[in-house]
Amino acid sequence: MKLGLVGNPIKHSLSPWIHKQFLQQVKQQGDYHLFETEENQFIATVAQLKQKKLTGFNITVPFKQKIIAHLDGLDANAEQIGAVNTVVNENGRWIGYNTDGLGYLEALMDAYSFLFSDNQKRVLVIGAGGAARGIFYTLCQHKFQTVDIANRTMNKAMELKLLNKSKVTKTTCLSFEEAEKQLGQYDLIVQTTSVGMNEDKKVLALDQLTKDTVVSDIVYQPLITTFLAEAQKRGAYIHQGHMMLLYQAKLAFQNWTNREVNVSPLLEDFEQQIK
Ligand code: ATR
Repeated sequence: MKLGLVGNPIKHSLSPWIHKQFLQQVKQQGDYHLFETEENQFIATVAQLKQKKLTGFNITVPFKQKIIAHLDGLDANAEQIGAVNTVVNENGRWIGYNTDGLGYLEALMDAYSFLFSDNQKRVLVIGAGGAARGIFYTLCQHKFQTVDIANRTMNKAMELKLLNKSKVTKTTCLSFEEAEKQLGQYDLIVQTTSVGMNEDKKVLALDQLTKDTVVSDIVYQPLITTFLAEAQKRGAYIHQGHMMLLYQAKLAFQNWTNREVNVSPLLEDFEQQIK
Protein backbone atom coordinates (compact mmCIF):
# COMPACT_ATOMS: atom_id res chain seq x y z
CA MET A 1 0.00 0.00 0.00
CA LYS A 2 1.41 3.39 -1.02
CA LEU A 3 0.60 6.36 1.20
CA GLY A 4 2.04 9.83 1.64
CA LEU A 5 1.82 13.43 2.74
CA VAL A 6 1.87 16.61 0.66
CA GLY A 7 2.64 19.95 2.32
CA ASN A 8 5.38 22.40 3.22
CA PRO A 9 7.21 22.32 5.55
CA ILE A 10 6.80 18.63 6.46
CA LYS A 11 10.35 17.42 7.11
CA HIS A 12 9.63 16.95 10.81
CA SER A 13 6.17 15.44 10.32
CA LEU A 14 5.25 12.64 12.72
CA SER A 15 2.73 11.17 10.26
CA PRO A 16 5.15 8.63 8.69
CA TRP A 17 5.83 7.18 12.13
CA ILE A 18 2.12 7.06 13.06
CA HIS A 19 1.04 5.35 9.83
CA LYS A 20 3.87 2.86 10.03
CA GLN A 21 2.49 1.80 13.43
CA PHE A 22 -1.03 1.51 12.00
CA LEU A 23 0.26 -0.59 9.08
CA GLN A 24 1.89 -2.94 11.60
CA GLN A 25 -1.31 -3.11 13.63
CA VAL A 26 -3.29 -4.38 10.65
CA LYS A 27 -0.34 -6.48 9.39
CA GLN A 28 -0.15 -4.75 6.02
CA GLN A 29 2.91 -3.93 3.94
CA GLY A 30 3.24 -0.32 2.88
CA ASP A 31 5.13 2.94 2.91
CA TYR A 32 4.24 6.50 3.74
CA HIS A 33 6.36 9.04 1.84
CA LEU A 34 6.82 12.77 2.32
CA PHE A 35 6.24 14.93 -0.74
CA GLU A 36 7.42 18.38 0.31
CA THR A 37 6.30 20.76 -2.41
CA GLU A 38 6.79 24.39 -3.35
CA GLU A 39 3.60 26.26 -4.30
CA ASN A 40 4.58 26.41 -7.97
CA GLN A 41 5.20 22.65 -8.05
CA PHE A 42 1.95 21.68 -6.39
CA ILE A 43 -0.01 20.73 -9.52
CA ALA A 44 2.89 18.64 -10.83
CA THR A 45 3.20 16.84 -7.48
CA VAL A 46 -0.49 15.94 -7.40
CA ALA A 47 -0.29 14.64 -10.98
CA GLN A 48 2.73 12.54 -9.99
CA LEU A 49 0.88 11.03 -7.02
CA LYS A 50 -2.08 10.10 -9.20
CA GLN A 51 0.25 8.50 -11.72
CA LYS A 52 1.93 6.48 -8.98
CA LYS A 53 -1.53 5.17 -8.08
CA LEU A 54 -1.19 5.82 -4.37
CA THR A 55 -3.82 4.25 -2.11
CA GLY A 56 -4.27 7.73 -0.70
CA PHE A 57 -2.45 10.63 0.85
CA ASN A 58 -2.69 13.31 3.49
CA ILE A 59 -2.56 16.94 2.63
CA THR A 60 -1.49 19.68 4.97
CA VAL A 61 -0.57 23.37 5.16
CA PRO A 62 -0.61 25.29 2.82
CA PHE A 63 -2.57 23.06 0.39
CA LYS A 64 -5.70 21.94 2.26
CA GLN A 65 -7.94 24.21 0.18
CA LYS A 66 -5.91 24.27 -3.02
CA ILE A 67 -6.21 20.49 -3.48
CA ILE A 68 -10.00 20.66 -3.90
CA ALA A 69 -9.82 21.79 -7.55
CA HIS A 70 -7.77 18.67 -8.37
CA LEU A 71 -10.13 16.07 -6.93
CA ASP A 72 -13.01 14.10 -8.46
CA GLY A 73 -15.26 14.48 -5.45
CA LEU A 74 -15.57 15.51 -1.81
CA ASP A 75 -17.33 13.94 1.11
CA ALA A 76 -20.03 16.11 2.69
CA ASN A 77 -17.86 17.10 5.67
CA ALA A 78 -14.92 18.27 3.58
CA GLU A 79 -17.27 20.14 1.29
CA GLN A 80 -18.86 22.07 4.16
CA ILE A 81 -15.54 22.79 5.87
CA GLY A 82 -13.95 23.78 2.56
CA ALA A 83 -10.71 21.97 3.31
CA VAL A 84 -9.30 18.47 2.76
CA ASN A 85 -6.66 16.68 4.83
CA THR A 86 -7.12 13.16 3.41
CA VAL A 87 -7.43 11.98 -0.19
CA VAL A 88 -8.55 8.45 -1.04
CA ASN A 89 -8.08 6.71 -4.37
CA GLU A 90 -11.51 5.10 -4.85
CA ASN A 91 -11.11 2.96 -7.99
CA GLY A 92 -9.26 5.72 -9.79
CA ARG A 93 -11.47 8.55 -8.49
CA TRP A 94 -9.67 10.85 -6.04
CA ILE A 95 -12.01 11.77 -3.22
CA GLY A 96 -11.29 14.34 -0.49
CA TYR A 97 -12.15 13.93 3.18
CA ASN A 98 -11.55 16.05 6.25
CA THR A 99 -10.72 14.06 9.38
CA ASP A 100 -9.45 17.00 11.47
CA GLY A 101 -12.74 17.92 13.14
CA LEU A 102 -13.96 14.33 13.52
CA GLY A 103 -10.53 13.31 14.84
CA TYR A 104 -10.73 16.06 17.42
CA LEU A 105 -14.25 15.01 18.44
CA GLU A 106 -13.44 11.30 18.68
CA ALA A 107 -10.38 12.03 20.82
CA LEU A 108 -12.51 14.21 23.08
CA MET A 109 -15.26 11.57 23.36
CA ASP A 110 -12.73 8.90 24.34
CA ALA A 111 -11.20 11.11 27.04
CA TYR A 112 -14.22 13.04 28.39
CA SER A 113 -17.41 11.20 27.53
CA PHE A 114 -19.37 13.22 30.11
CA LEU A 115 -19.31 16.16 27.67
CA PHE A 116 -21.59 14.08 25.45
CA SER A 117 -24.06 12.94 28.12
CA ASP A 118 -26.64 15.60 27.21
CA ASN A 119 -26.89 18.48 24.76
CA GLN A 120 -26.77 21.20 27.40
CA LYS A 121 -23.02 21.76 27.18
CA ARG A 122 -21.48 25.12 26.33
CA VAL A 123 -18.32 25.41 24.28
CA LEU A 124 -15.90 28.22 23.49
CA VAL A 125 -13.58 28.01 20.46
CA ILE A 126 -10.62 30.40 20.63
CA GLY A 127 -9.35 31.37 17.17
CA ALA A 128 -10.97 31.48 13.73
CA GLY A 129 -8.18 30.36 11.37
CA GLY A 130 -7.81 27.27 9.22
CA ALA A 131 -7.33 24.97 12.20
CA ALA A 132 -10.55 26.19 13.83
CA ARG A 133 -12.77 25.42 10.82
CA GLY A 134 -13.04 21.63 11.05
CA ILE A 135 -13.29 21.70 14.83
CA PHE A 136 -15.96 24.42 14.91
CA TYR A 137 -18.03 22.80 12.15
CA THR A 138 -17.91 19.39 13.80
CA LEU A 139 -18.78 20.73 17.27
CA CYS A 140 -21.81 22.54 15.79
CA GLN A 141 -22.90 19.36 13.98
CA HIS A 142 -22.75 17.61 17.31
CA LYS A 143 -25.52 19.77 18.76
CA PHE A 144 -23.84 21.29 21.77
CA GLN A 145 -26.06 24.00 23.26
CA THR A 146 -23.68 26.80 22.30
CA VAL A 147 -20.38 26.94 20.45
CA ASP A 148 -19.09 30.52 20.80
CA ILE A 149 -16.04 31.93 19.02
CA ALA A 150 -13.46 34.30 20.52
CA ASN A 151 -11.00 35.83 18.08
CA ARG A 152 -8.67 38.83 17.88
CA THR A 153 -10.16 39.84 14.51
CA MET A 154 -13.95 40.01 14.77
CA ASN A 155 -14.78 39.71 11.06
CA LYS A 156 -12.89 36.41 10.86
CA ALA A 157 -14.99 35.11 13.75
CA MET A 158 -18.17 36.22 11.92
CA GLU A 159 -17.01 34.39 8.82
CA LEU A 160 -16.36 31.20 10.78
CA LYS A 161 -19.80 31.47 12.38
CA LEU A 162 -21.34 30.90 8.91
CA LEU A 163 -20.15 27.28 9.18
CA ASN A 164 -22.67 26.68 11.94
CA LYS A 165 -25.42 24.92 9.98
CA SER A 166 -27.07 23.50 13.09
CA LYS A 167 -30.64 24.44 14.00
CA VAL A 168 -29.90 23.68 17.64
CA THR A 169 -26.46 25.11 18.41
CA LYS A 170 -26.17 28.88 18.93
CA THR A 171 -22.98 30.84 18.25
CA THR A 172 -21.96 34.27 19.55
CA CYS A 173 -18.73 35.94 18.39
CA LEU A 174 -16.74 37.48 21.23
CA SER A 175 -13.68 39.65 21.75
CA PHE A 176 -10.99 38.17 24.00
CA GLU A 177 -12.04 40.61 26.77
CA GLU A 178 -15.67 39.45 26.57
CA ALA A 179 -14.64 35.80 26.54
CA GLU A 180 -12.29 36.23 29.51
CA LYS A 181 -15.15 37.65 31.62
CA GLN A 182 -17.51 34.74 30.93
CA LEU A 183 -15.05 31.83 30.88
CA GLY A 184 -16.76 30.35 33.93
CA GLN A 185 -19.89 29.44 31.97
CA TYR A 186 -18.20 27.02 29.56
CA ASP A 187 -17.94 23.23 29.88
CA LEU A 188 -15.32 23.01 27.12
CA ILE A 189 -12.78 25.58 25.91
CA VAL A 190 -10.77 24.80 22.75
CA GLN A 191 -7.63 26.79 21.93
CA THR A 192 -7.00 26.65 18.14
CA THR A 193 -4.54 29.51 17.52
CA SER A 194 -0.82 29.03 17.06
CA VAL A 195 -0.11 31.09 20.21
CA GLY A 196 1.85 28.93 22.65
CA MET A 197 3.55 26.86 19.97
CA ASN A 198 7.17 26.63 21.12
CA GLU A 199 6.73 29.77 23.21
CA ASP A 200 5.83 30.52 26.79
CA LYS A 201 2.64 32.46 26.04
CA LYS A 202 -1.09 32.07 26.35
CA VAL A 203 -3.73 33.62 24.19
CA LEU A 204 -6.11 34.83 26.91
CA ALA A 205 -6.29 35.14 30.69
CA LEU A 206 -7.82 32.21 32.57
CA ASP A 207 -8.68 33.99 35.86
CA GLN A 208 -12.41 33.26 35.52
CA LEU A 209 -11.94 29.59 34.60
CA THR A 210 -13.88 27.22 36.84
CA LYS A 211 -12.86 23.84 38.11
CA ASP A 212 -14.09 20.84 36.08
CA THR A 213 -14.11 22.67 32.75
CA VAL A 214 -12.37 20.70 30.00
CA VAL A 215 -9.63 22.77 28.33
CA SER A 216 -8.20 21.66 24.97
CA ASP A 217 -5.21 23.05 23.15
CA ILE A 218 -4.56 21.90 19.61
CA VAL A 219 -0.91 22.95 19.91
CA TYR A 220 1.05 19.75 20.64
CA GLN A 221 4.57 21.11 20.94
CA PRO A 222 5.12 21.37 23.86
CA LEU A 223 2.91 18.51 25.07
CA ILE A 224 1.64 20.72 27.88
CA THR A 225 1.37 24.31 26.68
CA THR A 226 1.43 27.31 29.01
CA PHE A 227 -2.34 27.55 28.42
CA LEU A 228 -2.94 23.96 29.53
CA ALA A 229 -0.55 24.23 32.48
CA GLU A 230 -2.43 27.26 33.78
CA ALA A 231 -5.80 25.54 33.23
CA GLN A 232 -4.59 22.48 35.13
CA LYS A 233 -3.42 24.66 38.01
CA ARG A 234 -6.95 26.03 38.25
CA GLY A 235 -8.48 22.54 38.54
CA ALA A 236 -9.58 22.10 34.93
CA TYR A 237 -9.30 18.82 32.98
CA ILE A 238 -6.85 19.10 30.14
CA HIS A 239 -6.99 17.63 26.66
CA GLN A 240 -3.68 17.80 24.79
CA GLY A 241 -3.14 18.59 21.11
CA HIS A 242 -1.27 15.42 20.18
CA MET A 243 -4.45 13.40 20.72
CA MET A 244 -6.13 15.19 17.81
CA LEU A 245 -3.09 14.51 15.66
CA LEU A 246 -3.30 10.79 16.41
CA TYR A 247 -7.04 10.55 15.92
CA GLN A 248 -7.14 12.46 12.62
CA ALA A 249 -4.46 10.01 11.41
CA LYS A 250 -6.50 7.04 12.68
CA LEU A 251 -9.57 8.19 10.73
CA ALA A 252 -7.47 8.89 7.61
CA PHE A 253 -5.96 5.39 7.84
CA GLN A 254 -9.42 3.87 8.24
CA ASN A 255 -10.60 5.75 5.14
CA TRP A 256 -7.71 4.31 3.12
CA THR A 257 -7.92 0.72 4.36
CA ASN A 258 -11.41 0.15 5.80
CA ARG A 259 -9.59 -1.37 8.78
CA GLU A 260 -10.15 -0.23 12.36
CA VAL A 261 -6.98 0.82 14.23
CA ASN A 262 -6.27 1.75 17.81
CA VAL A 263 -4.48 4.84 19.07
CA SER A 264 -3.65 3.75 22.63
CA PRO A 265 -0.76 1.32 21.85
CA LEU A 266 1.08 4.19 20.14
CA LEU A 267 0.65 6.78 22.82
CA GLU A 268 3.65 6.30 25.08
CA ASP A 269 6.24 6.16 22.26
CA PHE A 270 4.55 9.00 20.47
CA GLU A 271 4.79 11.26 23.53
CA GLN A 272 8.48 10.42 23.83
CA GLN A 273 9.04 11.66 20.30
CA ILE A 274 7.34 14.99 20.93
CA LYS A 275 9.23 15.72 24.17
P1 ATR B 1 -4.18 28.21 11.10
O1 ATR B 1 -4.47 27.78 9.72
O2 ATR B 1 -2.99 27.52 11.72
O3 ATR B 1 -5.35 28.22 11.99
P2 ATR B 1 -4.40 31.02 10.51
O4 ATR B 1 -5.46 30.73 9.52
O5 ATR B 1 -3.38 32.04 10.20
O6 ATR B 1 -3.62 29.71 10.92
O7 ATR B 1 -5.15 31.42 11.87
C1 ATR B 1 -4.47 31.67 13.00
C2 ATR B 1 -5.43 31.98 14.17
O8 ATR B 1 -4.59 32.34 15.24
C3 ATR B 1 -6.36 33.15 13.94
O9 ATR B 1 -7.51 32.99 14.73
C4 ATR B 1 -5.52 34.30 14.43
O10 ATR B 1 -6.24 35.44 14.83
P3 ATR B 1 -6.67 36.60 13.75
O11 ATR B 1 -7.86 36.04 13.04
O12 ATR B 1 -7.00 37.77 14.58
O13 ATR B 1 -5.48 36.79 12.87
C5 ATR B 1 -4.90 33.67 15.64
N1 ATR B 1 -3.68 34.31 16.09
C6 ATR B 1 -2.44 34.19 15.55
N2 ATR B 1 -1.53 34.90 16.27
C7 ATR B 1 -2.21 35.48 17.30
C8 ATR B 1 -1.85 36.31 18.40
N3 ATR B 1 -0.58 36.69 18.59
N4 ATR B 1 -2.81 36.68 19.26
C9 ATR B 1 -4.09 36.30 19.07
N5 ATR B 1 -4.51 35.50 18.06
C10 ATR B 1 -3.59 35.09 17.17
